[in-house]
Amino acid sequence: MKHLYFACLLSVLTLLATSCGKRVVVEKYAIIPEPVELTMKSGDFVLSSSTKSYAGNVGQNDMSLKYISRMLRQFHLNPVLVGKPETNCLQFVINSDYDVELGDEGYTVDVTRDGVVIAANTEHGLFYGFQTFVQMLPEDISQKRYNRIVLPCCHIRDFPRFAWRGSHLDVSRHFFGVSYVKRQLDLMAAYKMNKFHWHLTDDHGWRIEISKYPLLNDIGSWRVDRDDQPWGEASPAMDGEQRSNGGYYTKDEIREIVAYAAERYIDVIPEVDFPGHCCAILEAYPQLACANDDTTYTVQFGPYWPPRAILCGGNDSVLSFLKNVMDEIIPLFPYKYIHVGGDEAVKDNWKRCSLCQKRIKELKLQDEDQLQSWMVMEIEKYVKGQGKTIIGWDEILDGGASADAVVMSWQGTKGGTVAARRGNDVIMTPTEFCYFNYYQANADFQPPAMPNTLVTLRKVYSFDPMPAKLSATQQKHILGGQCNLWTEYINTPEMAEYMLLPRLCAMSEVLWSPLESRNWERFRYDVSRHRQRLECNDYKVGTGSFSPWATYEKQEDGKVRVTLHWEVEGTHLFYRYGDEPFQRYNGPFLVDSGTRVTVLPFFHGMMREKAYDFVCK
Ligand code: ACM
Ligand code: ZN
Repeated sequence: MKHLYFACLLSVLTLLATSCGKRVVVEKYAIIPEPVELTMKSGDFVLSSSTKSYAGNVGQNDMSLKYISRMLRQFHLNPVLVGKPETNCLQFVINSDYDVELGDEGYTVDVTRDGVVIAANTEHGLFYGFQTFVQMLPEDISQKRYNRIVLPCCHIRDFPRFAWRGSHLDVSRHFFGVSYVKRQLDLMAAYKMNKFHWHLTDDHGWRIEISKYPLLNDIGSWRVDRDDQPWGEASPAMDGEQRSNGGYYTKDEIREIVAYAAERYIDVIPEVDFPGHCCAILEAYPQLACANDDTTYTVQFGPYWPPRAILCGGNDSVLSFLKNVMDEIIPLFPYKYIHVGGDEAVKDNWKRCSLCQKRIKELKLQDEDQLQSWMVMEIEKYVKGQGKTIIGWDEILDGGASADAVVMSWQGTKGGTVAARRGNDVIMTPTEFCYFNYYQANADFQPPAMPNTLVTLRKVYSFDPMPAKLSATQQKHILGGQCNLWTEYINTPEMAEYMLLPRLCAMSEVLWSPLESRNWERFRYDVSRHRQRLECNDYKVGTGSFSPWATYEKQEDGKVRVTLHWEVEGTHLFYRYGDEPFQRYNGPFLVDSGTRVTVLPFFHGMMREKAYDFVCK
C-alpha cells in the first residue's frame, strides 16, 4: 500500500468559500476498507456542475448505473450523460479484457486532471468502485451543496481478500422492521460487505410468514412486552397479558428486502434454527416437542438459559414440518445458501424421549449428537434437491457433518479450523472478535449490552479469519468471516446502529484488505472521518472505547519504557506517577519497574470514562 500522504495525519478536509459558491478541497482520502493500492499523483480534478458522465459500455438500464445516478442526485451532483468520453467527465467502464487479479468484485479508480474513470470487470466491481468514489467526496456531501469539489489525482486498484464478507442480524430477540433492515444493508454496501445473514427464528419469535403453518405467525411471532425492563430482569408474564411485542415479515416484505439487497450486491441468507432455539415453534405447535415432554412452551421475552426447548428428533412430523417450511422459504431467497442453525441444542429431552431413543437405535447412531447430525443431513438432502447448500453453526460438527455443509465457526476458530482440514467450507465468526452484541467499551460507561466480553474496535481490527498452519488447499476452505448482531439488549434501530458502528468498519477492512496493509493508526484516523460521514447520514455511531492501554519494554538498566495507546482519534492522555504532576502524553517515557502510572483520557476537552492505573513491569 502506497501512502504518499500518510504523514499528514492531522490535515483534513479544508472548506473554502469562494465568491462563485461553496468550494471544497479534499486534502486526504480516508477509504474503508483500505484499498489494496492507492497511489497519490500530482494535480487535482475539479468536480463541478459542468462535469459530465459517460457510461461507456455499461448498459443504460444496468442496476449499478441506476443506483449510481440516484446516489449522485442525492449529492446534488447530476452529471449530464454524454455519448462519448470527454474531458471533465466521470466515466464508468466495464473492462473489455477480464483482469484476473481484480476478479468479479475488484475495480480501479483513476482521478486525473481530466476526470475520473471507474473501471471493473463486472457491474458488481463497478458498484464497489463507486462506493470508494463516494468515500472520496467530502464527509458532509449528503448535507451540503458544493459547486466545486477539488479531488487530488490518484490511482486506486482494489479487490477483496475474502469472498464471504458477512453481517448478521438477529430479528428474533427483537423484531426490526423493513426500514431498519434497509439501513443495515446500505451500511453493508458502503463497506463492501456482501452477505446478509438474517437470523429469522429463535426462542423469542418467529419472523417470517409461513402460509402452511399460520400459528407460527399468529402465536410464534408475538410475546409480552418487557422492553421497559433490563433484559436480564424481565418480570413474569401475567395471566391473559396481551402479546404486544413482535411481528414478522410478510413474503412481500421479504421479497422487497431481497431485491433491495440485490441492488447492493448483497446475498441474503435466511436462518431457520433447529433443532433447538424453538420456543416460538413449540408454543404454536406443541406436538413437535418430544413424546414425554410436558413443558408448556411460550415465546420467550427475557433470558432463556439453558435453552432446553428442542424439536423431537424421532417424530417424522418434525421433518415434514421443516421440509414444508423450507419449501416456502427457498423460493424467496435466490441464493446458494440456507442456514439451518444447529447451535446450543440442549438434548436432555432427547435422552428421555421414547421416539428419539427409538430413532437412535434404528439408525444405529451412537448418541444424541449423531441424532442431530442425522436430522441436519435429512434436511440438507432435501434442500440440496432444490440446489441449496446448508450452513450450520459449528455444533453441526459434533455428531459429524456432511462434506458439503458449510461450518460457521462461532465458538472460537477451532471448529472452523478442524472443518477446513476435513475439507468443509468455513465462515469464521468467533465470539471474541465478531459478536457485536457485547460491549465495545467499559460497561460502566455504556448503555446495557451483553456482559462479560469486551469487543472493542481495536479487538475487531486485530481479527484474522485465516487460521495459522493450514495448507494452501485447506486455506481455500476459509470463505471469510462475519460480524453478528444478536439483539437481546438491542431493541431500537438506533441501538442496533450504535453497536454496529464503527465496528462494522473494522470488520469490513479485516475481510477485504490485505493482511499486510493493516495499520491501526491509519485506520483509527480514517474511522474518525467515517464517524463524521456516518453522522451526516443520520447514523448513530458508538462512542468507541476511551480506555487507554499500555505496553512495556524492559531496558538494560532495569527501567521500563512505557508506551500508552488509545482507540479514539483525538484522545489526549494525561499521566502521572509517584509525586510527579500530571503531564500530557507525547510519547513513550521511562519509569522504574513496578511503578504505578495513572492515566486520564480526555476527548474534546472532557475527561472520559475514569482514571486508569497501570503497574509498569
Ligand atoms: C450462537 O451464538 N449461539 C451461534
Ligand atoms: Zn423426541
